[in-house]
Amino acid sequence: MSKPKIGIILSTTREGRFAAKAADWLLELVAARKDLTFELVDLRDYPLPFYDEPKSPLWAPARDAVAQRWARRIESLDGYIFVTAEYNHSIPAVLKNAIDYVAHVFARKPAAYVGYGGVGAARAIEQLRLINIEQQMAPLKSAVHIGGADFVDVLLHGKSLADKPHLVPSVNAMLDELAWWTYALAQARAADAPASRAASAA
Ligand SMILES: Cc1cc2nc3c(=O)[nH]c(=O)nc-3n(C[C@H](O)[C@H](O)[C@H](O)COP(=O)(O)O)c2cc1C
Repeated sequence: MSKPKIGIILSTTREGRFAAKAADWLLELVAARKDLTFELVDLRDYPLPFYDEPKSPLWAPARDAVAQRWARRIESLDGYIFVTAEYNHSIPAVLKNAIDYVAHVFARKPAAYVGYGGVGAARAIEQLRLINIEQQMAPLKSAVHIGGADFVDVLLHGKSLADKPHLVPSVNAMLDELAWWTYALAQARAADAPASRAASAA
């Protein structure tokens, strides 16, 4: 089996976003992993209109060309790390909109989370786990929360996330768990593929 591919999804798009700092820091840390490969998936590269499709994504692919490109990118990946802010105690609308555009492409794959904000986006991530269940994903308990003084130090006091080594164990714990689920689900999807093909051909 080739190395599974994990998408690190940047979930905010505004100018000056903190998301880029968190994603760049994460990319440095994941470079040490030998069992998984990682790529950034930036919502800025998928400027989706506010959801406006005649049919639910459960019943028909989106008409919108950007949405089709987004779906293909998500489908090409074996697992995901959502790097997310908390906007009004929930996930950023741009992320919810992007998720709404696709249905099956996230299914039977794991989701891990890196959040930042006053409480490390804990409230937003709890909601995102519930949303991800509807995509038939496996949302992980393990997450990284960049909160409180750590967040403010980087946002306002000129510090970098590299100055916060105490966050690294939670990243490694999350990656270990993500690797287990990614391999387990990839094998299960592969084993299931002939049966699924036969069922859809019948
Ligand atoms: C519309 C909006 C709502 C916000 N709501 C929250 C919130 O509920 N909890 C929180 O901890 N921070 C909140 N913040 C502050 C964000 O944590 C902070 O601006 C962060 O940098 C946003 O992520 P971004 O820079 O990647 O957009 C909010 C910011 C914005 C712009």
